[in-house]
Amino acid sequence: MTADTLLERITDYACRPDPYPLYAELREAGRVVRQADGSHLVGTYHEINALLHDPRVSVDPRHGLVRDPGLSEQEQLPFLILDDPAHHRLRTLAMRPFGPPHSPGRVDAMRGQIAELTGELVEGLRDRAEFDLVDDFAYPLPVTVICRLLGVPREDEPLFRRWSDLVVASADVQPGEEAAERARTGRQARVEMGRYLVDLAEQRRGRPGEDMLSAFVNEPDPALRLTREELAETAVLLLIAGHETTVNLITNGVLTLLRHPDQLERLRRDPGLLPGAVEELLRYEPPVHLRRRVPLVDLDIAGSVVPKGEPLILVIASGNRDPGRFRDPDRFDPARVDNQHLGFGGGIHLCYGAPLARIEARAALGALIPRLGAVTLVEDPPPYRRNAMLRGPRHLPIRVGSL
Ligand code: HEM
Repeated sequence: MTADTLLERITDYACRPDPYPLYAELREAGRVVRQADGSHLVGTYHEINALLHDPRVSVDPRHGLVRDPGLSEQEQLPFLILDDPAHHRLRTLAMRPFGPPHSPGRVDAMRGQIAELTGELVEGLRDRAEFDLVDDFAYPLPVTVICRLLGVPREDEPLFRRWSDLVVASADVQPGEEAAERARTGRQARVEMGRYLVDLAEQRRGRPGEDMLSAFVNEPDPALRLTREELAETAVLLLIAGHETTVNLITNGVLTLLRHPDQLERLRRDPGLLPGAVEELLRYEPPVHLRRRVPLVDLDIAGSVVPKGEPLILVIASGNRDPGRFRDPDRFDPARVDNQHLGFGGGIHLCYGAPLARIEARAALGALIPRLGAVTLVEDPPPYRRNAMLRGPRHLPIRVGSL
């Protein structure tokens, strides 16, 4: 098997349970590995980190030589895939009702609610002989939290779940014929979801609640107001990013702990290790595996030139296991020091929701850890979601001794 089929093998669904040997193969093959489809894979920590911080590298898909023909120059995109200065403006406006400096206590103030929700979800598992950690715990928690934060009715989850699935599928890194069709249905879903969220925001114009949609639509300063299209894209991004990743962190966390009973026991005895354990999970089993970029110039990466416009795929989960950066990288060590992982990305697109994700993951694992001693995995590996970019189990069936 040659290196130019690595991307196909990495994205092949059969590899979803354990892509890490392929990532090791990628790092062995070189710092930049060109694929038959013209894309370039980067799997080493220092190169990925440098590219995430490089202003000559774009996230905007419209800079690519191979472009989705349905994507127009005029179309409003979410700030996740915009470059500065447009990215900076939108990220700053989206941050105003979420975090410092304008809303410094916003996320922290949710700790109580998150603890309460976690308690209710754990209570719901009591007396169950078997449950699915995803559907019964790891999914409802972040969905409920981001709904409350944005001001989206929780009961509408079946509606936005369908849109969210289509948008996430369209953003996946999967070579192949269906990519154009996935892009079309993803774009359509984004438009419908955006319309739904803007309608919700409009209902609060002049009658603001405590939520972020209210804050966006009632901004008094015209210079700080989002246009209708910007509001739609920002709200879609926050709703999707706010839950599709955290669910994987919690599920990967439980799976990893059940596979490492010694570390589970260590955390049970010393809950002070929990924040470090969450960071280690973001390194060892990160929810986001791949990110796309496009060089704006011919770019020299560790001696290989990647021509302007050719797709770059940063395998951030491989960077997290790079022995050139982490000692004994395939070992899960909740007490690891010097753990500057790439789980939340880096540079100007560093995850906007990281403080919230950390609070949710610590609350979830903190509530579950004392109860995991009496449970076993029904299936190992469990069934995975199709997505190669946002990787995590679709279900995690768990059998209970006594919870
Ligand atoms: C464990 C949970 C999470 C993980 C692993 C995660 C991971 C990431 C990563 C890797 C990026 C960078 C993408 C890139 O550079 O291309 C990112 C960006 C982003 N994340 Fe998260 N995320 C998580 C939770 C959240 C939450 C809870 C929210 C919202 C409240 C959120 C909102 C965002 C947004 C808006 C961006 C785009 C930032 C920008 O482009 O400036 N994320 N996230």
